[in-house]
Amino acid sequence: MKALVIGGAGYIGSHVVLYLCDRGIEVTVFDNLSTGKQENLDERALFVRGDILVETDLEQAFKDGNFDIVLHFAALKSPEESMLFPMRYAKNNLTGSLNILNTMLKFDVRNIVFSSSCAVYGESRYIPIDEKHPLEPINYYGYTKLAIEENLAWYARLGKINYAALRYFNAAGYDLDGRLRGREPQPTNLLPIIMETASGERSSMEVFGTDYATDDGSCIRDYIHVNDLARAHFQALEYIMAGEKPLVTNLATGRGYSVLQVIESAVKITGRTIAYDCTERRKGDPAVVIAGTERAFEALGWQARYSDIETILKSMWKVYGN
Ligand SMILES: NC(=O)c1ccc[n+]([C@@H]2O[C@H](COP(=O)([O-])OP(=O)(O)OC[C@H]3O[C@@H](n4cnc5c(N)ncnc54)[C@H](O)[C@@H]3O)[C@@H](O)[C@H]2O)c1
Repeated sequence: MKALVIGGAGYIGSHVVLYLCDRGIEVTVFDNLSTGKQENLDERALFVRGDILVETDLEQAFKDGNFDIVLHFAALKSPEESMLFPMRYAKNNLTGSLNILNTMLKFDVRNIVFSSSCAVYGESRYIPIDEKHPLEPINYYGYTKLAIEENLAWYARLGKINYAALRYFNAAGYDLDGRLRGREPQPTNLLPIIMETASGERSSMEVFGTDYATDDGSCIRDYIHVNDLARAHFQALEYIMAGEKPLVTNLATGRGYSVLQVIESAVKITGRTIAYDCTERRKGDPAVVIAGTERAFEALGWQARYSDIETILKSMWKVYGN
């Protein structure tokens, strides 16, 4: 089987590429290396440097590839940035994804696995957030993911494609066997920031809001290890290639950790002090985000295995602690 992994040099994509190569899938990575890293590229995969906004780049890759399926990770992903520069997100995420879909059709590639996000839900109306939860993104990034999902649904309804849209909650961790070490540049997510503070690269970090209606007052999130995400992608690929009906599913654990709990666990695991300041709440941060996980289990037989916070943090400290 031949797969084109777009955005496969990035944090999640590179873990998925590793998993697919381990299972004998012939992988081509297509990436412009804007945030992806050369050091993340798997030797077993072909690499094509190109941009999803340049249609001729895509056409060249498809022309040479004869792919059975596309996995699409390429996107800008900062909710905050998307509110300041929506045009960047419109272009890269919306136009880029439509370019991919249209190039797929041109070259008769009919299957796609798409990286969606819990950002499609917006404020949680109830917990756990299952896939029937209202879709009311509160940032433009989340809107782009929803709009792409809607286009996938239309293309499928018109008989053009089959797809899986995987809504990740908070991706974290590094390959458990330590094979990937490419660190994210200027991270904005909690766990890499905790790691950078533990390693001394940052003198301290901020905890945004300690007056939420949670046990310790800080926000609660559902963290999912990238190795669990990688396995879910492989299972989604098999599901789609078996001709099952389109799938939209959460990928998460159904369990949450507060920001202060994560910091406390990180202090134990790293043996370092982690200095932090408690500051104001950030706009648009819901108190508790925990996923419903039944659909992924029913459709794919998938459940998280490595997503307890200790395993996640230990796998990250192997990368950040050296
Ligand atoms: N990290 C998370 O917690 C999380 C949660 C939910 C959803 N997602 C989604 O998962 C996907 C992967 O996220 P990630 O954390 O690995 O991010 P990342 O930035 O590490 O990976 C994105 C990859 O896409 C490439 N890329 C971006 N724009 C491109 C373009 N125009 N042409 C070609 N390549 C391009 C980048 O170079 C990079 O390799 C994204 O779609 C993101 O929105 C991530």
